[in-house]
Amino acid sequence: MIHARGLTRRFKIKGAHVDAVRGLDLDVEEGQLVAFLGPNGAGKSTCLRMFTSLLPPTSGTAVVAGRDVVSDPAGVRARIGYVGQKSGAGENFRVRDELVTQGRCYGLTRPQARERADEVLAMLDLGSLAERKPGTLSGGQRRRLDIALGLVHRPRLLFLDEPSTGLDPQSRANIWEHILRLREEHGTTVFLTTHYLEEADNMAARVVIVDHGRVIADGAAGRLKSDLAGDRVTITTRDAADAARAAGIAERVAGSGEVTADGTTVLLRVSHAGAVLPEYLRSLDEAGVKVLTAETSRPTLDDVFLALTGRSLRESDAQGDAQGGEQGGEQGGEQGASRDAAA
Ligand SMILES: Nc1ncnc2c1ncn2[C@@H]1O[C@H](COP(=O)(O)OP(=O)(O)O)[C@@H](O)[C@H]1O
Ligand SMILES: [Mg+2]
Repeated sequence: MIHARGLTRRFKIKGAHVDAVRGLDLDVEEGQLVAFLGPNGAGKSTCLRMFTSLLPPTSGTAVVAGRDVVSDPAGVRARIGYVGQKSGAGENFRVRDELVTQGRCYGLTRPQARERADEVLAMLDLGSLAERKPGTLSGGQRRRLDIALGLVHRPRLLFLDEPSTGLDPQSRANIWEHILRLREEHGTTVFLTTHYLEEADNMAARVVIVDHGRVIADGAAGRLKSDLAGDRVTITTRDAADAARAAGIAERVAGSGEVTADGTTVLLRVSHAGAVLPEYLRSLDEAGVKVLTAETSRPTLDDVFLALTGRSLRESDAQGDAQGGEQGGEQGGEQGASRDAAA
């Protein structure tokens, strides 16, 4: 469905230049759901705009839905759906009329366009809002309308740029439900960008991580985490001397894993924490090291990003809203702002 080779885009601004995308190679097969993940400015939107023929590449090639983006942009556009980072709906027409107009733009007759509008309204649970104007919809409802607009011409491949960004957690979950359903019920190939790590982790079968215009990791989230980040075993001891001894013992049991000691805490990075912990505790006990607490934790996609770049994706994300869920106050605020809940 998507085959890109050496795809590059350079922007020139006042004598300087920005290499937004640098030599991207990518293959996406039919039916896949791919999350394109990376910090702000990584080049995600630029890639999407090249895949959708909206922006010509500086060099390299992309064949999307069987058509070359440079030599046959009209062919690409007829076969794909694209929902940009900003809303595509106008303010003046009612929801159903927006969809009918879109259908007419794709060459449907008026009766066909009406029929299709009702189909996509049903698909995205917008039926009860058909007579409303887009300006009166909540953030989540509006994003569903954007997706509906991208689906009018029955594309086999759908590009979504940050479909859930800026929505409250409840609306985000609802958008995801619809995206997953599209794939299950209609076999639509979905390629979407997000900077919400948890979403990419839970929802997408394949995660492609980009940084500075390059792909730095590509695969199933679980696989990336075990290959690139590993599980963690953390123990705490009574004092630093015990921690130092515990770290020495950890070097033996952790195999090729990484061991760090900090104060009274010892951290091991291993591929399977559950297999290492019992033996480690036994060895510590035999050596007379008293362990106060012991816990294991699974890595996150942020650990993968950290392992690859030395930076945290959360920190390098200027919008900072990827961290919303971690701060009680902020999350409360987000839920308080939920407008979808009232609908
Ligand atoms: N039209 C443009 N002109 C100049 N620079 C641009 C333009 N569009 C994007 N860029 C730059 O390209 C880089 C990648 O941007 P973008 O693809 O929007 O990233 P992302 O979607 O991952 O946040 C950024 O440094 C951005 O400032
Ligand atoms: Mg973007």
